[in-house]
Amino acid sequence: MKGHPGGVAHSLRMLELSGLEKGAKILDMGAGNGETVLLLQSLGFAAQGIDLEPGSDAVRQGDFLHSGYADGSFDAVLSQCAFFVSGDIPAALRESHRILKPGGLLLLSDVCFITGEELRQLAERWGFAVLHQEDLTALWREYYIEALWAGTADCVPCGKKCTYQLLICRKE
Ligand SMILES: C[S@@+](CC[C@H](N)C(=O)[O-])C[C@H]1O[C@@H](n2cnc3c(N)ncnc32)[C@H](O)[C@@H]1O
Repeated sequence: MKGHPGGVAHSLRMLELSGLEKGAKILDMGAGNGETVLLLQSLGFAAQGIDLEPGSDAVRQGDFLHSGYADGSFDAVLSQCAFFVSGDIPAALRESHRILKPGGLLLLSDVCFITGEELRQLAERWGFAVLHQEDLTALWREYYIEALWAGTADCVPCGKKCTYQLLICRKE
């Protein structure tokens, strides 16, 4: 199951909420086939992507939990539907916080088996101020049902309530 709920429109909304300006250096963690990296580049951002299994030349092969970038390398980290897939959301928050400049932004949308409030608290514990949060569970349901129908869904139900959260956070 590749991609993320809402597609390009969702990516544009995250950008709009962030207020990032052209030229900002952005890393897409878990960039997949690089669709969002190419979108960001086309809008004038200095975007790059990292993924365990890159789907195109626009994305570098690597583990975003141990990205290898120096501290404070990026103005923003964006991640869509990938922190959960990594299996270690706290480690993903820690690594994104490390590679952000002071005041840098994390643009996150992801599947959560914790509540929105618990996700907010987790982000705060790793040194982020949450500037904006939205529950996009309805969008996720639609996306997941389509994937089930197409035979590409691969999330294993774990008996916990699943939500989809959008967060815009600032590194404190
Ligand atoms: C559901 S896909 C989403 C891809 C992309 N963000 C998008 O929206 O199209 C999740 C991606 O996260 C990547 N991923 C998961 N854990 C990773 C890790 N530790 N390091 C790098 N990539 C990872 C997977 O390889 C996969 O491409």
